[in-house]
Amino acid sequence: MATIGIDLIEEILELKRKRNAVILAHNYQVKEIQELADFVGDSLGLSYQAAQTDAEVIAFCGVHFMAETAKIVNPGKKVILPDLDAGCSLSESCPADKLEAYLKEHADKNYYVIAYINCSAGVKALSDVICTSGNAVKIVEAAPKDRNILFVPDQNLGAWVMEQTGRKMELWRGACYVHVEFTRDSIERIRAEHPGAPVVAHPECTYAVRILADEVCSTEKMITYCKASPAKAFIIVTESGMLHRLRREMPEKEFIPGPTDLCACADCRFMKMNTLEKLHDALLHLQPEIVIPEALRARAELPIRRMLELSK
Ligand code: 13P
Ligand code: SF4
Repeated sequence: MATIGIDLIEEILELKRKRNAVILAHNYQVKEIQELADFVGDSLGLSYQAAQTDAEVIAFCGVHFMAETAKIVNPGKKVILPDLDAGCSLSESCPADKLEAYLKEHADKNYYVIAYINCSAGVKALSDVICTSGNAVKIVEAAPKDRNILFVPDQNLGAWVMEQTGRKMELWRGACYVHVEFTRDSIERIRAEHPGAPVVAHPECTYAVRILADEVCSTEKMITYCKASPAKAFIIVTESGMLHRLRREMPEKEFIPGPTDLCACADCRFMKMNTLEKLHDALLHLQPEIVIPEALRARAELPIRRMLELSK
């Protein structure tokens, strides 16, 4: 284990050079990881970065399904995740065997399956196309008009996309355990304390919260929205890591965390499993590595490529 602080950061950067690695980090990662990453972004931006990189090793600081997506589009590269237990409640809410059984049972519906990227390789392999919160509206609008859509696994994102597009879809009953913690009361309270500050919420929030928001968007679009807005303060209704990215890009503006009924801000325990120490050790040992059986990987790649093509 390396010493913490500047030495540790230098050792990580040195290992990164030696390994010819790229460090990709999600907007919810801890501040120290965001600061040394080569790219920080949302699931869509990270998917493009993963698909385009010429590095030999991808050190993915995010959760398992994100690193798995990077591996699916890069079978020849080594993809490492600092903590293999960094899962996702949304991904867990839709196991591939349950989805497969559901599709068999309802074969008469001939579903066109749209899967939010927060799902396993097994679920991706059963899907027609993948979407992220950044392109879900576009992907649903491009779906064949004569097919029934089954949207998995996030019922809140799915409901928001239905509101935006007017397209009817059947929704898998999954949810993000972090975003459902924001309530109408908790957001109304913080809004009363900061009158005039726009409320910016992630579409994984419930309807009761989304209708209070001035803007509902992906984490990356939160950056563009806040940059373009003349407002000086914003209430950010998503995971707390987002605040680092916003404050770094716009130090002159104020970002107020959206509270839940229990906490002043919301942390995703999975996103927070990655630490600088674990990133260091992952680059040193090239472990834990994401490994996917080739037949599964190849099936999961098709709907991801379709998404990347459709959302260009
Ligand atoms: P974004 O793609 O908007 O960054 O969302 C990912 C996520 O896991 C939200 O909880
Ligand atoms: Fe999954 Fe929610 Fe964590 Fe995002 S915030 S990774 S959806 S559990």
